[in-house]
Amino acid sequence: MTVIENPEGADTTSGTPAALRIHSPAARPQRPSSAAASGCPFHLKGLAPGQSNAVEGSALQQHGPAPVAELPGGVQARVIVAYGLAQRLAAGSDVSRNADHWPGFRDGSLAVDGVLRQWAGPRNALNADGEEHARLRAPIQTGLTPRRVREMTPVIETIVEEALHDLEVLAAASGIVDLVPTFALRIPQQVITRLMGVPSGLMGEFGRAATGLFDTSAGPADMQRSMDTVLALLGEMVAAGRAQLGDDLVSDLIRASRQANDPLSDEELLAQLMLVVIAATETTVHAIGTLIVHLLTRPAQRALVVSGEVSLDDALDESLRLQPPAASVPRFAVRDFEDAESGQTFQKGEPILIHAAAAGIDPNVHTAPGVYDVRRPTRRKHLAFGHGPHACPGAPLARREVTIAVSRWLKRFPEARLATDTTQLPQPHSFIANGFTKIPVRLG
Ligand code: HEM
Repeated sequence: MTVIENPEGADTTSGTPAALRIHSPAARPQRPSSAAASGCPFHLKGLAPGQSNAVEGSALQQHGPAPVAELPGGVQARVIVAYGLAQRLAAGSDVSRNADHWPGFRDGSLAVDGVLRQWAGPRNALNADGEEHARLRAPIQTGLTPRRVREMTPVIETIVEEALHDLEVLAAASGIVDLVPTFALRIPQQVITRLMGVPSGLMGEFGRAATGLFDTSAGPADMQRSMDTVLALLGEMVAAGRAQLGDDLVSDLIRASRQANDPLSDEELLAQLMLVVIAATETTVHAIGTLIVHLLTRPAQRALVVSGEVSLDDALDESLRLQPPAASVPRFAVRDFEDAESGQTFQKGEPILIHAAAAGIDPNVHTAPGVYDVRRPTRRKHLAFGHGPHACPGAPLARREVTIAVSRWLKRFPEARLATDTTQLPQPHSFIANGFTKIPVRLG
């Protein structure tokens, strides 16, 4: 098993590789079944401390472009680890994000639990395909224009400056601060609050509930309470927006939906708004945290960025390539098909994971793929923002947020250093969420 290493500050995410086991697609079972029954030897159940999705991805690459792995609940999926194949599948019509294509899933005859259960999710743009996808995505897209990103820029700057000020106060009091709640999560959470146009009277409640959605220590009941509160507040905002439109994302969605041939119901609007709240927060938190960790642990790379020799945007791409905030995204084969270029065949209904964390370190695309190198010519060849019809509509806003936040953080705290060994930074135990759940730092 290869542990990815990097002389100039090793890959922060590498460590003891997961106990990975695979079997070849040719020998795969026809239906998802338990590992014990099928003898599937490869597990992608989430990571143990010190392991990383990059390490798993690298191990998977030893077994071809699309090996089979076992997911929680005994479900077996093809994992797409080659960049080219991942791009072709994400862009084409042979696979879908809609779990209706997964036999037995919607009707409940296929027992799956945990993170896979969410693939049934609400009827939102992410879970839809074809015309339904276009109809649900269009209003979101109208709210995330370049004009909106420009207008949000001073708002983001203010949010970041306030967070930096509070960090200084906190650091003076306690020495070590955890950057995740105080900065990496705070920024996207406040940006989404402002983007949505949450009225000032509801901001506190909305902020607390939206933060609660990402509290990894919360139990199911607390999580549900946060979800219900966010939905109720979004419901109030939709009702207010229907009465009087404003200049915010909720109003944009209502406006776009009104102009459509088949307007979205309140329920559909709420599902799309909830999608945006979640998609915009749980990814950006890791993009900010991971970029900071990459730069903190590699002084030479950081110096290139601080001196302006390399842009922070390039450093961000390299960070997204090496450690994308969403390590993998699901798809389902809508028919039997063969990818001519790779010769890989897929069976109708087969679950597929497009593994962005592996595709970003494809050795056929990148030399020394495990090395964080802000000057890498191929740094933009990653799938961190997805590809094809579901490609992230919030990417320009996310880039703006991350670069404002990290550039100002670097300037304010030039002496900052990690307060722990990089291999000790906890990561989500997930083959989807990818980043750090705690980043303790000494700021001065
Ligand atoms: C660094 C931050 C972000 C990353 C890495 C990221 C990543 C992604 C990825 C990989 C997908 C595609 C999922 C798939 O193909 O199954 C996606 C979709 C999406 N993202 Fe982002 N995202 C980020 C920030 C944002 C922001 C700031 C917003 C909104 C303000 C947003 C809104 C969405 C929405 C609505 C979708 C669903 C699009 C569709 O299904 O058509 N994302 N994102």
